Amino acid sequence: MTTINQNAICHLCGGDDCRDGAKKIRRELERLIEQRGLASQVELRMTKCQGRCEDGPVLTVMPGANTYGELNTAAVAEIVDQHLIRGQPVRARLLKKAAKKLKALKR
Ligand code: FES
Repeated sequence: MTTINQNAICHLCGGDDCRDGAKKIRRELERLIEQRGLASQVELRMTKCQGRCEDGPVLTVMPGANTYGELNTAAVAEIVDQHLIRGQPVRARLLKKAAKKLKALKR
């Protein structure tokens, strides 16, 4: 198991504009979290629209409210290895303003 400095919550947008892209992102995020042994330290939550639809798919990592947009699988790997494991947000992939809202999807 990999040890990280701080437990993290990944809020992946499942709103209408992000939903299709988020499916692939979710699978990759879950795969990498499992593969890197982070399952007990990283929680993945699906949210409603985060108000950044033009930048989707969108992922907000907390603590810190770091919001990433236009995600692809390469970006997810970078976020897992650099942000979740080493605690350093991937600045080049951050959106300039954090997500406007984080509201969990009811399941
Ligand atoms: S649908 Fe994802 S930010 Fe709006």
